[in-house]
Amino acid sequence: MAEAVIIDGKAFAANLRAEIAQKVSALKARGGPVPGLAVVQVGENPASQIYTRNKAKQTVEAGMQSFKHDLPAETSQEDLLALVDRLNHDANVHGILVQLPLPPQIDPNAVIDAIDPAKDVDGFNVVNVGCLVTGGEGMIPCTPLGCLMLLKDALGDLKGKRALVMGRSNIVGKPIAFLLLREHCTVTMAHSKTENLAEECRRADILIAATGQPRMVRGGWIKPGATVIDVGINRIETEDGKSKLVGDVAFDEALPVAGAITPVPGGVGPMTIACLLQNAFAAACRQTGFDPESF
Ligand code: GUN
Repeated sequence: MAEAVIIDGKAFAANLRAEIAQKVSALKARGGPVPGLAVVQVGENPASQIYTRNKAKQTVEAGMQSFKHDLPAETSQEDLLALVDRLNHDANVHGILVQLPLPPQIDPNAVIDAIDPAKDVDGFNVVNVGCLVTGGEGMIPCTPLGCLMLLKDALGDLKGKRALVMGRSNIVGKPIAFLLLREHCTVTMAHSKTENLAEECRRADILIAATGQPRMVRGGWIKPGATVIDVGINRIETEDGKSKLVGDVAFDEALPVAGAITPVPGGVGPMTIACLLQNAFAAACRQTGFDPESF
């Protein structure tokens, strides 16, 4: 069998960002607002700092306004909730993202559920989670949305396909499972307590790896011709004492077996921010009486 097609998430995301930038210009030309996205970071988690910096940079590049709030690690839950409340009431802010993880003194659910659901561009608020599960119109979490876009681009119709989602986080695993169910896939969720995991994987036409375990999915676990979406971003040490990014899938082993696969880096990763910008644009439209689908 031929080698897998490598799904170019980097190029897909760049196209999507360019499209969003055009829509932002069109919104302004129609008398609409400059979409505003607030990104809140508490503490100095180095990975989070890179993500939030990139989010702010790409927000500006898409023609939107970025409001970045960097708070000290010892910020109280009360103070963070007060900031969220201010942002909820700020007419220039159409989207609010509080970067996770938060320091231990703060309950992430309390903060997420304090965000106005209309401004919840992460789609983590219980109202938006409920919309996703029940089939309503809500904000869809960015990484799962990015995965779905890449899957549809690679496969077209997903109806009837057998999908295995590895990982059950609120950020990735659970929302992806419900998105795939909405696309009429037959969805199985696997997690750290799943028995016969390799066997479950081998039955999947679509394999979503979101475990956070570097190179956990081996070549022999993959059904020949399957589409593999690797959500993992793990930094590992190499033999020469340097470090590199790898996914949750042993990419070199998967390549001769899979039909298509996302690389790490350059696969799902770049899609997350592009989808965040898309959600922020849609939020700004809806809050100001424009139909985001009309652009
Ligand atoms: N931390 C890791 N991924 C995400 C995400 O998509 N949104 C937020 N808010 N925090 C994250």
